[in-house]
Amino acid sequence: MAVDGNRLRLSRQGLFLFLALAAAPPCLRAQLSTEDHLAEPGFWPTQGGASRNDYVGPAACATCHAAKAASQPKTPMARTISYAADAEVLLTHPNLTFSVGVYRYLIKSDTKHSLYSVTNGTETLASPLLWAFGTPRVGQSYLFKKEDGHFYEARVTYFPSLKNLGFTPSRDLASPKDVEEAMDRPVGAAEIGRCFGCHTTASTIDGKFDEEHLILGVTCEACHGPGAKHVTAMKTLMNGDLNTRQVDIFNSATLSPVDSVDFCGACHGTWWDVNLSGVKGVSTTRSAPYRLVTSKCWGKKGDARITCVACHDPHEQLQTEAAAYDHACLKCHVNASGQKPRAEHPGAACPVATRNCTSCHMQQVYVPEMHDKFTDHRIRVVREGEPFPN
Ligand code: HEC
Ligand code: HEC
Ligand code: HEC
Ligand code: HEC
Ligand code: HEC
Ligand code: HEC
Ligand code: HEC
Repeated sequence: MAVDGNRLRLSRQGLFLFLALAAAPPCLRAQLSTEDHLAEPGFWPTQGGASRNDYVGPAACATCHAAKAASQPKTPMARTISYAADAEVLLTHPNLTFSVGVYRYLIKSDTKHSLYSVTNGTETLASPLLWAFGTPRVGQSYLFKKEDGHFYEARVTYFPSLKNLGFTPSRDLASPKDVEEAMDRPVGAAEIGRCFGCHTTASTIDGKFDEEHLILGVTCEACHGPGAKHVTAMKTLMNGDLNTRQVDIFNSATLSPVDSVDFCGACHGTWWDVNLSGVKGVSTTRSAPYRLVTSKCWGKKGDARITCVACHDPHEQLQTEAAAYDHACLKCHVNASGQKPRAEHPGAACPVATRNCTSCHMQQVYVPEMHDKFTDHRIRVVREGEPFPN
């Protein structure tokens, strides 16, 4: 389910510089594509590391950041990948099936492994599954290797809404030419690097995919960069050497609102990433950063009161009570009829309600290929019968 599966490898920075010089005030910095952010100096999520020794793993952060180290590993981000042999879904659903035309799909699991097979009645192909992507909150997809040592993506995905298999999103085939094509899609080295770059930590070292030593899931160093230097510096500091002033770790709290949203967009898809990918319509709701910056609330250059971290703490579980988000809206919106917006509260009052703002203004949108709903981060008055705003 690559957000950037068919992303054009095209840089827009040149265009931006031109536009910035031509029209915008000199201080204004626009949203960028992830590729452009990665080309800049310094750390950015999904970037590979220089050396394995620069990473310490999440357990090493626990001695000093106990609360975050206790909560973050339980989040879907930290648990977004596992070996197929450890995948809860497969263990609890030992016979998963799907049929289309003459093709019958089966994932048969026991406590040791999961065997994926496809048959057209006369010919059958089978392979043990290797990797399971997705928690699965919405879906879980599988990768495996064949004798040739290359990666393949199973043509079928588990969807909790179906309690069974369905076509892997965007990989459905009306009439595959043979059993092999019906079974899988080969995934090249560059794309494998990107899949694991968004679903694991430190999977690419010195330009090479390191399947053996990668850290499962989106953990501390996926968002804060390699931590070895910081740990050494902080130990020195705590041993009383007050000359240590260098914190030596990336903290996205220092980013501008525009960059802060692009930061989460490194994996969730920035405005430019989605724009360049050509994805349109309801499928774009899978990318919160893309939808958010098209909200009127975001304005032209964003505002720290409406970045991802204004509503979400990436170290904690997702809040599912609408009321828990009201404080974020009310940092900008006045909340009594008759009250006029003012400088520090530039948003109007709602004529309809005073609480549970997101339940009406952040619509749950059904995305057909995912068989499930996503939250539309384009905050707006939703009018019945209106076309979906791109
Ligand atoms: C640019 C980063 C990125 C890449 C590359 C990427 N993913 Fe994801 N993936 C995400 C994010 C973010 C989510 C959660 C949001 C969503 O659902 O789209 C996700 C969700 C998923 C899910 C769970 C379904 C869901 O919607 O929650 C599966 C399964 C998945 N990805 C598989 C893959 C596979 C397999 C590949 C490579 C072929 C891949 N992804 C490549 C970022 C990425
Ligand atoms: C030996 C104790 C120790 C360990 C281990 C440690 N930290 Fe820290 N960390 C600190 C202290 C102390 C501070 C506060 C430094 C300050 O504000 O001057 C800090 C600050 C931070 C900050 C904020 C930096 C800033 O610029 O404000 C981040 C982010 C962070 N740590 C992440 C991590 C991560 C990720 C790990 C594991 C890879 C880790 N830390 C391991 C002690 C530690
Ligand atoms: C290194 C990649 C990466 C980065 C950076 C990243 N995410 Fe995610 N995020 C993911 C993936 C992958 C998932 C899908 C988890 C799953 O399998 O359900 C996800 C899921 C989520 C979810 C859904 C959790 C749930 O309970 O369903 C939220 C909320 C989220 N991310 C917020 C953020 C925020 C906020 C930021 C920026 C501070 C961020 N993410 C940065 C990869 C990333
Ligand atoms: C999905 C991305 C993501 C992951 C994973 C993540 N962090 Fe953070 N972390 C952030 C962001 C974003 C901020 C800044 C939050 C803000 O601006 O309020 C932050 C801030 C911090 C801070 C600064 C403290 C503070 O409250 O200002 C520390 C310390 C920290 N993280 C430690 C950790 C540790 C330890 C882990 C692993 C257990 C971890 N983080 C995992 C994104 C992440
Ligand atoms: C104004 C508040 C707000 C902001 C800002 C915000 N979100 Fe959300 N987000 C929500 C709400 C509300 C939900 C739905 C929670 C639930 O399931 O009840 C949600 C859900 C999600 C989910 C789960 C999947 C889904 O579509 O339901 C992801 C992933 C996510 N947000 C990522 C992000 C990212 C990345 C950003 C920054 C671009 C962001 N959010 C900014 C309020 C916000
Ligand atoms: C950073 C400040 C800020 C935050 C936070 C914010 N808004 Fe807004 N919002 C505004 C401003 C300013 C406008 C008016 C923009 C305009 O009219 O051009 C607006 C407009 C709106 C509109 C009218 C949009 C339309 O289509 O006409 C709605 C509805 C709305 N906000 C709801 C919300 C909700 C719900 C939240 C919380 C989930 C929220 N806002 C958070 C600043 C904010
Ligand atoms: C029960 C659904 C519901 C809830 C809950 C709700 N709203 Fe609204 N809101 C609406 C509707 C419907 C409109 C359009 C009213 C109209 O145009 O007649 C609206 C309009 C607005 C507008 C546009 C006002 C204008 O003058 O243009 C803003 C801003 C807004 N809401 C913000 C909020 C905020 C902030 C909250 C939470 C404190 C909230 N809403 C809660 C349904 C709701």
